[in-house]
Amino acid sequence: MQPNIVEQLDGYSEIKKEIELARKYGSDFTAEKGALTAYLNRLHPAYITLRVSEIITETASTKTFRMVPVDGVLPPFLAGQYIALFLEIGGVRTSRPYSISSQPNQTGFYDITVRRVENGLVSNYLLDEIKRGDTLISSGPAGNFYFNPLIHKKTMVCIAGGSGITPFMSMIREIIECQLDRNVYLFYGSATTDDIIFDAEFKRIAERFDNIHYIPVVEEPAGGYQGACGFITRDIMKEVLEGIDDKSFFICGPRGLYDFCLPQVEEIGVPRRKIKQEMYGAPANIREYPGWPAEIGQDAVFTVKVKGHQSLKARADEPLLVALEKNGVVVPSLCRSGECSMCRVKVVSGKVFQPAGVLVRKSDRQFGYVHSCMSYPIEDLKIVA
Ligand SMILES: Cc1cc2nc3c(=O)[nH]c(=O)nc-3n(C[C@H](O)[C@H](O)[C@H](O)COP(=O)(O)OP(=O)(O)OC[C@H]3O[C@@H](n4cnc5c(N)ncnc54)[C@H](O)[C@@H]3O)c2cc1C
Ligand code: FES
Repeated sequence: MQPNIVEQLDGYSEIKKEIELARKYGSDFTAEKGALTAYLNRLHPAYITLRVSEIITETASTKTFRMVPVDGVLPPFLAGQYIALFLEIGGVRTSRPYSISSQPNQTGFYDITVRRVENGLVSNYLLDEIKRGDTLISSGPAGNFYFNPLIHKKTMVCIAGGSGITPFMSMIREIIECQLDRNVYLFYGSATTDDIIFDAEFKRIAERFDNIHYIPVVEEPAGGYQGACGFITRDIMKEVLEGIDDKSFFICGPRGLYDFCLPQVEEIGVPRRKIKQEMYGAPANIREYPGWPAEIGQDAVFTVKVKGHQSLKARADEPLLVALEKNGVVVPSLCRSGECSMCRVKVVSGKVFQPAGVLVRKSDRQFGYVHSCMSYPIEDLKIVA
């Protein structure tokens, strides 16, 4: 029989005797271990059941869903973090992350603010089907997109596009309500004036608080619009910011915002590695992404053999995670943007396309693991999910 390695450690028999004595005389505290686990589970629950207590129309395409806990209290979060909603729509079990737009200093509810995405499965479901009183299941708060006083300068330059405004709303509400010693320059890009989310609230805040500067930038403004027009360019930023050395940069929104704004921020002298980023999902059209193999046909479909499941068909231009979900193979997911590693699958044979910049651990790469939310089949695949 193999010797027990723990029994061979120095002091093992003395510690064993001490534990036996402690048990005998009632000074054993090991029962409290369970209490600690219960406490940690309350702070970091895997699932929360939420009830929609209010729905606020923000713009023609955007609503805020205010959600309260069905049991107990909500776990705390940091302004900028998101929750993932877990849903079953038309027989497909899926998830989507939404940044919390309410401020973390109040713990009674979470707000999420959802914009309609054309043909989008979940955004349309939430906006059209969810009513006051409905329940939703979410993850606990997650994500790294928040202000860290040990790293970031107290002046934040925040660049948002479309629904990417939501984490900044949470941060700004916290700054003004808790009177935090922080300044914000918020550059917010929208397609039209009607699309600007929280416009009236930001204007009110900027008028009242000297430390909050609000610069909406509208791509196609209505006639007579007085503010900045077009995209968020280096020139618009330079005009407002006096230098960059005392500032930290944050950017949040859909992929198109990154492709345009990251080079602009670099051109004013901020290295890319110093820009804190939160990308809102996979690229809208992967075929237009740099490096996409041109030989993959417009309607290319590949066979994916998943260990323990029937083979399925997957489109080349759809993330592998989506194809798996559509075929009833549920892979855990949270961020759906290549950040959290929850959706890893092992590719045993065949090739996937992964957009540049998706973080994959060295060991994952070595053993063939990929993030299925940011991987596109470009050959027949055999995978373990
Ligand atoms: C960390 C994180 C936080 C997020 N927070 C918010 C938030 O606060 N509010 C919010 O409205 N959304 C937010 N999103 C986006 C959200 O998770 C969904 O991606 C979005 O609601 C679309 O989902 P869908 O099911 O409707 O569309 P899908 O069915 O997933 O997609 C349909 C099509 O639209 C494209 N698409 C997907 N998302 C977008 C997008 N955001 N813009 C343009 N095209 C897109 C897809 O590439 C696809 O072609 C966040 C995403 C991430 C990663
Ligand atoms: S779900 Fe987070 S990396 Fe894919």
